[in-house]
Amino acid sequence: SNGETDELFTVTADYLRKRLTPELSQPKVAIICGSGLGGLVDTLEETDKVEFLYEEIPGFVSSTVPGHAGKLAFGLLGENKMPTVIMVGRFHFYEGYNLNQITFPIRIFKLLGVEILIVTGAAGSLREEFATGDIGVLSDHISIPGFSGINPLIGPNLTTFGPRFPALSDAYDYDLRVKAFKAARKLNFTTGSIKEAIYCFLGGPSYETRAEARFLNSMGGDVVGMSTVPEIIVAKHCGIKVLGLILVTNQVIRNKAKSADPMDYQQMMNYQDEKPVNHEEVIALGVLKALDMKNLIKTIIELI
Ligand code: 6GU
Repeated sequence: SNGETDELFTVTADYLRKRLTPELSQPKVAIICGSGLGGLVDTLEETDKVEFLYEEIPGFVSSTVPGHAGKLAFGLLGENKMPTVIMVGRFHFYEGYNLNQITFPIRIFKLLGVEILIVTGAAGSLREEFATGDIGVLSDHISIPGFSGINPLIGPNLTTFGPRFPALSDAYDYDLRVKAFKAARKLNFTTGSIKEAIYCFLGGPSYETRAEARFLNSMGGDVVGMSTVPEIIVAKHCGIKVLGLILVTNQVIRNKAKSADPMDYQQMMNYQDEKPVNHEEVIALGVLKALDMKNLIKTIIELI
C-alpha cells in the first residue's frame, strides 16, 4: 500500500543518513551516470567521499549491464564543494525491473534534500546534425512506453512527494540548460558539439528498427535511448529540478534508408554496408568522451 511504500523510503533515507556526516547526508545535487560515464565519481574530493554498494542499500536493486557498476557515492564536488550524491550505474527497464524499482533512488534523494538532478546517458542520433561524440542538453522528451500506459507514476499517488497529475511541459529546467551552455563555452567546446535535444525513450533491449527510427525522427525526436525518462518523471513529480545530458554514441540516421532498389546494384551495396548498432560501440564512445562530460558537469556545478 501507499503507507508501506512511504515507510521504505524513510528506512532507506535513515540508513544512509546514519552512515554519513551531517554535511554529506544533505546533498544538494544528485547525478546519475550512464553507460561508461561512471568516471564522474573521481571528481568528488577523495578525503571525505563515502560509497555504498547498491546491494547493501535497503530497497535498491543491483545493476547488471556490463559497463554499469552499481554504487552510490556521497561527497563534495568542484571548487564550490557542492554536497553531491552520484549514482554510478543505473537501473534499466529492459533488465526486468519495474519503474518503481528504477526510480526508487530519486525519492531517496528528495528525502535527503536534493534540489537538482543531473541525468546522463548514451543515445543514438536521429538527425544528421547530431554527430557521434556530440553532447545533447535535453529540452524535452517523447516517452514511447508512456503512450501505452507505462509510466513510473501509475498507481496510488504518493501525495507526500507530489501531485496526482504533474505537468511535464517544463520538465527540463531552463536555468540549468543555460548553465550547461555557459559551462561548455568556458571549456571551449567546439560550437555545435553541444546542442539542445529532444530525447525519445524506448524500453529496449532491442535497438529500434529502421522504420521505427524514421518514425521517431518524423515525430520530432533528435536522439533515442533506453534510460533517463523514468527518473526524470519521478524527479519532476517531487519538485526536483532536472538537467538531462546525453552523449551521442552512434548514428541511427545512417541506418535510416528505406529498402534499396533491388535493381540498383550500387544502392544495394550501400544498403548492405550499413552497420547495425552494437552495445560495445556505445560503451566505447562513452569511455572516449567521458572526460568531456565529467568536466562539463563539474563546471556546471561550479556555476550553481
Ligand atoms: Cl535506444 N538506439 C541507438 N541506435 N543507439 C543507442 C541507443 C538506442 N541507446 C544508446 N545508444
